[in-house]
Amino acid sequence: MNNKDMNAGQLLKQANQLKRVGKLDKAIALYHQVIEINPNFTWAYNNLGDAFVKQGNIDNAVAFYSQSLKNNSNSAWLYYCLGEALAKQGDLETAVKYLQKAIDTKPNFYKFYNSLGQVLTEQGNFDEAIANYQKATELNSEVAHSYLGCCLCYMYKKELDQAQNYLLLAIKFSPKNEQIKLYSDFFKILDELKAKIESGLGKDIFSFIDNSPSQKKHSLSYHQYFSKILKLVSFYEPISTYKSLRKFPNLDKFHFCISEVTLPGMNYLGVLKSLHAFLQPENYVEIGVETGKSFRLSNSSKISVGIDPKPRLEFSIAPYAKIFPITSDEFFQNYDLSKELEGSKIDFAFIDGLHIFEQALQDFINIEKYSYKNTVVCFHDTLPLDEITSRHDRVTGFWSGDVWKVVPILKQYRPELEIFTIPTKPTGLTIVTNLNPDSTFISDHYDKIINEYMNKEWVDNYDLRYAMLSVTRNSWNEIVRKLNWVKEDDFKNREL
Ligand SMILES: C[S@@+](CC[C@H](N)C(=O)[O-])C[C@H]1O[C@@H](n2cnc3c(N)ncnc32)[C@H](O)[C@@H]1O
Repeated sequence: MNNKDMNAGQLLKQANQLKRVGKLDKAIALYHQVIEINPNFTWAYNNLGDAFVKQGNIDNAVAFYSQSLKNNSNSAWLYYCLGEALAKQGDLETAVKYLQKAIDTKPNFYKFYNSLGQVLTEQGNFDEAIANYQKATELNSEVAHSYLGCCLCYMYKKELDQAQNYLLLAIKFSPKNEQIKLYSDFFKILDELKAKIESGLGKDIFSFIDNSPSQKKHSLSYHQYFSKILKLVSFYEPISTYKSLRKFPNLDKFHFCISEVTLPGMNYLGVLKSLHAFLQPENYVEIGVETGKSFRLSNSSKISVGIDPKPRLEFSIAPYAKIFPITSDEFFQNYDLSKELEGSKIDFAFIDGLHIFEQALQDFINIEKYSYKNTVVCFHDTLPLDEITSRHDRVTGFWSGDVWKVVPILKQYRPELEIFTIPTKPTGLTIVTNLNPDSTFISDHYDKIINEYMNKEWVDNYDLRYAMLSVTRNSWNEIVRKLNWVKEDDFKNREL
């Protein structure tokens, strides 16, 4: 080993120690130093990926795990780490491929089968998931999580006796494990819940869950907790939980839980965060800032402009970020956005202001004037849960409004735009690119278009609705595939 490599090895040990004790920023800086000294050091990339996973930065983790595999494509562990990170990112399909490669490379390690079982379960592929979990228990008979995995799959398959047997095995091998205790609690309350729903208590289900000792005991958020219960309950026959709860259409708790259950993978903030990291926009414009939850994600941009008549910031934002406390129409009437952007065009915009389609469309018209071909515009709330929460006039607590109409409008009247909707919870995100700041078609025909769409009915059929809204998969790989060209052009046309 030469001196250079020795130094890298020693630094790696130090970085590992820092990672173990949770000093992640310092560990990450050291791993980068190791890579600078020895760019072929596979484990530096891998451990750097681990540090990013611990930090919750899954995109970076995926990037560094992929890099480690470029250096060494024979390591089952590297395939496994990348597979797990991809699953966290919501790209289940690619995750399955890498986890399968881990198994092919090292077929006798139970962990790989267990992990593949989990991803297959998320995909709804229960039989294959059970086969993998069972293989894991053959290789290590005390692997309680694989028994729990089998239990959940049988639950989803409505084979409740089998589910119960596997739960007992999981408890036997790991009676103190928090997750197993949580599921064991879930199963205990399911029967009670079943009786309550059948007797028509409906709404009281919420107070029942609020007061469930199991909910207080575990550290899950209310929505995560209730969604898990709903998911399990909904597999019990003949109860149709959703149907029963839909009798109470104004239950925002229920709507949040439904979106948790029906829109798996990254939530809209996760997608926005990944978009910021991927696009690295020099500037960002957000209409509808509210608490700053999405606006703060733009902290790496040089210029961030927020517009909201009633901002009530709860999150810290970059000191140079500017918030205009006025409506978007007032802003575009009274300010020159290009001056605020110091002469540049918009790189990335997020439209999340007033949730009615005529305003969202007007916001788009204004934003496009300051855009270029590669500008990425994102609309929130374009994939509503149901008819009542997507009405033009608000009647429910959980309300996405009829912003969804903007998607068929742009598809119809601006066919050259590139548009797709990501099914991300709670209510979807639509991405629009290939803009043309000189286009005046929508503004020239604005009143006619608004009249045409004002009474357009909600499309109840799932397939037709998803086609109308150009819904893609909530998969980061897919999003990148669709947006790669935006970056390839190198933002050439950015300057005004
Ligand atoms: C759903 S919140 C935005 C949430 C935020 N983007 C996030 O993800 O955390 C909608 C915001 O739009 C603002 N708003 C309402 N009408 C508006 C308008 N005409 N122009 C700009 N913002 C508006 C509201 O004050 C509210 O704060």
